[in-house]
Amino acid sequence: MTVNRLTVFSLFIISLIEYVALDKCSVCRGIIDNFDEGLKKTAKANFGGGNTRWEEKSLGSYATSETRLVEIVENLCSKDTKECHTMVEEYEDLVENFWFNQFQKKRDADFFQWLCIENVKVCCPKNTYGPSCSQCKGDKDRPCTSNGKCDGEGTREGTGKCNCDSGYQGDLCDECKDAYFEESKNDTHITCTACHMSCKSTCWEAGPKGCDECGKGWEQNEEEGCKDINECETDATCENGQYCSNTQGSYHCATCHKACDGCTLYGIDKCDKCAEGYTMEDNSCKDVDECLLEDICEDENKVCTNKDGGYDCKCKDGLIEENNTCIPKPKDIPKKKESKPHKKKFSSKDKKSLKKRNKYSQPSLLVHFAILGLYALCGLLVRGNVVIISVLTVFLGIYVYWFAI
Ligand SMILES: *[C@@H]1O[C@H](CO)[C@@H](O)[C@H](O)[C@H]1NC(C)=O
Ligand SMILES: *[C@@H]1O[C@H](CO)[C@@H](O)[C@H](O)[C@H]1NC(C)=O
Repeated sequence: MTVNRLTVFSLFIISLIEYVALDKCSVCRGIIDNFDEGLKKTAKANFGGGNTRWEEKSLGSYATSETRLVEIVENLCSKDTKECHTMVEEYEDLVENFWFNQFQKKRDADFFQWLCIENVKVCCPKNTYGPSCSQCKGDKDRPCTSNGKCDGEGTREGTGKCNCDSGYQGDLCDECKDAYFEESKNDTHITCTACHMSCKSTCWEAGPKGCDECGKGWEQNEEEGCKDINECETDATCENGQYCSNTQGSYHCATCHKACDGCTLYGIDKCDKCAEGYTMEDNSCKDVDECLLEDICEDENKVCTNKDGGYDCKCKDGLIEENNTCIPKPKDIPKKKESKPHKKKFSSKDKKSLKKRNKYSQPSLLVHFAILGLYALCGLLVRGNVVIISVLTVFLGIYVYWFAI
């Protein structure tokens, strides 16, 4: 049940994260992408089947016409998010302004630069960040030495600090982390590469020969550098019924085949001795058919069945076992039991329905998923409507509290 609860809880957190608004620059970028897409789609179109001279004269050519703009604007929000529609509505005038001024003059005018960066001011040029588009840390073309990401890069948000890729550290991501070495370095570039797994921590080159010190489970070897220690040959101790298996830098103990009493590896042909119920045959431990032994069940009313590593003695058909002997099946036992009064105990029927009820009071994982799915769906539909999302979240919170805490 703990796994169940944990899953519900993590799903709750994930659902919450879903509602953290898309950053506005991404929304704007999406609008630009759809604008470009719309330009392409309408590139060959003519309205009304062909421009008459009158139409050309009075409405201008289709390429820069309001008709074309309307067609394009209709499809600016492909993902249909609330954020997108809000932004398009709010800046409709700007879109028109671009269309009738910038685009008329220059067909390849940069709409992204004009709208998202200069006018709506939700994005920043490449390698800049924050409210006033400050330069990211490091070189202006290669911030963070190209070994990390500048926080908020390209948006009006963020701190401009470098989040280094794995293996790198420092304000500018120009140093190697422990367990990495400088594979190459000059004034402007640095490449850090992971040390070999056999190194304790630091190294000066790739491979097991490059380690400054060997890690646990490895020992210094003159020719090979850090070499794996075969613990199974030295100090490994496995319990009875287990065998040792060496791994790179370590070892593990695994259980022998059940036919074995001690073994070197897994398998009926790797046994030291055979376990009870098995016998050595062609170097393998094979099951003994005890039923072939005479009088194994010590009762003529019992039938012997051979099993892997053992055998069963059961009463013949029509007989049941009672005090280790086989007696005829009494026919009226069920009736007798039912007639006995059990006033304070649950009847089997009650128990069944009780079990059912218990099942319902702790819904299966599927139900949790369904409810969270429903929540996510509702949330997506009303994306951006803070009131409805808050109400939904409160209900989900109660639900999670009920079943997860
Ligand atoms: C530094 O190294 C990179 C490749 O690792 C190379 O492209 C660059 O030209 C080098 N710069 C200098 C100043 O040597
Ligand atoms: C089984 O043995 C117990 C005590 O050894 C006895 O009380 C009981 O009556 C026996 N049952 C039958 C069916 O013989």
